[in-house]
Amino acid sequence: MDAIFTCVFIFLLTLLSFLIFMKRDKREEPQKRAKLPPGSLGWPYIGETLQLYSQDPNTFFSTKQKRYGEIFKTHILGCPCVMLASPEAAKFVLVTEAHLFKPTYPKSKERLIGPSALFFHQGDYHIRLRKLVQGSLSLDIIRNLVPHIEAIAVSGSDSWGAGQVINTFHEMKKYSFQVGILATFGHLEAHYKQELNDNYTIVDKGYNSFPTNIPGTSYKKALLARKRLREILGDIISERKEKRLLEKDLLGCLLNSKDKKGEVLTDDQIADNILGVLFAAQDTTASVMTWILKYLHDEPKLLEAVKVYITMLKSVAYA
Ligand code: HEM
Repeated sequence: MDAIFTCVFIFLLTLLSFLIFMKRDKREEPQKRAKLPPGSLGWPYIGETLQLYSQDPNTFFSTKQKRYGEIFKTHILGCPCVMLASPEAAKFVLVTEAHLFKPTYPKSKERLIGPSALFFHQGDYHIRLRKLVQGSLSLDIIRNLVPHIEAIAVSGSDSWGAGQVINTFHEMKKYSFQVGILATFGHLEAHYKQELNDNYTIVDKGYNSFPTNIPGTSYKKALLARKRLREILGDIISERKEKRLLEKDLLGCLLNSKDKKGEVLTDDQIADNILGVLFAAQDTTASVMTWILKYLHDEPKLLEAVKVYITMLKSVAYA
């Protein structure tokens, strides 16, 4: 029975791919077709999604990189993709030729972060939100946060028992999340911090899992945790509105913003953007800090130079 099903399935996929190629041939002149990098687009529609999710994603990408080089094509979650694994290629997309690219995300990721987060928009709304996020991270604001950020770092390192093995990247993720919470809400009640952390961890785990609504899967658990995060954020937003505090943290900036017509942001827009910023800030910062720690550990002279520099900065600051 299984064999018959597999044959029918393969036949249907082959037929589908044949029809798609025939359609493409009619639509485009061969010489006008873009030259694509090496790689495989896998099966029609499902592409290589199943290969990616049936193994460790790092293995999937490193196998491809070994086979095709630093730039290769694939097809994941319904999107044909070009994967880049070199600094030069990243610079091409993000800096020198950034105008040629438009950021887009699979719908499954948008559902977890929230459709009103600035990543999913262009135009006036995007510019407005980007300014608000940047404004909440001005030098003056960060300067006032430094002692609190240091306290988070000290309490994190104190929690590592002697002889205990820790995963640096995981510890840096905890650290950057706590700093993100501080920059977003200022000082928040402990129970809110705990609830945000617990539910965000579930969303984070499901973010790169196979998107399906089947109960018990990482993605479905992440969707439910996302719903709880929205409720928690709703409570925090309502409390802040009741207290009528004019704070300069990210939540304060989002609450006080008015567009050209005098319209304020809705609670959904505020919640989606808070989650978006926490998400954008966590893995990126944690990964940079992990590399910094590695190189400081590997290069004692560099570590010494950094210590001298920090001592000098402190003496200037306290003079
Ligand atoms: C070393 C750490 C970081 C790295 C490597 C990094 C990298 C990136 C990259 C590559 C993009 C996409 C840019 C594009 O599509 O043009 C981006 C966007 C963004 N990042 Fe970061 N990021 C880091 C830290 C942070 C932090 C701490 C925040 C917290 C506020 C943040 C907030 C954002 C936001 C809001 C966007 C969207 C900007 C937009 O759509 O205009 N990032 N980041």
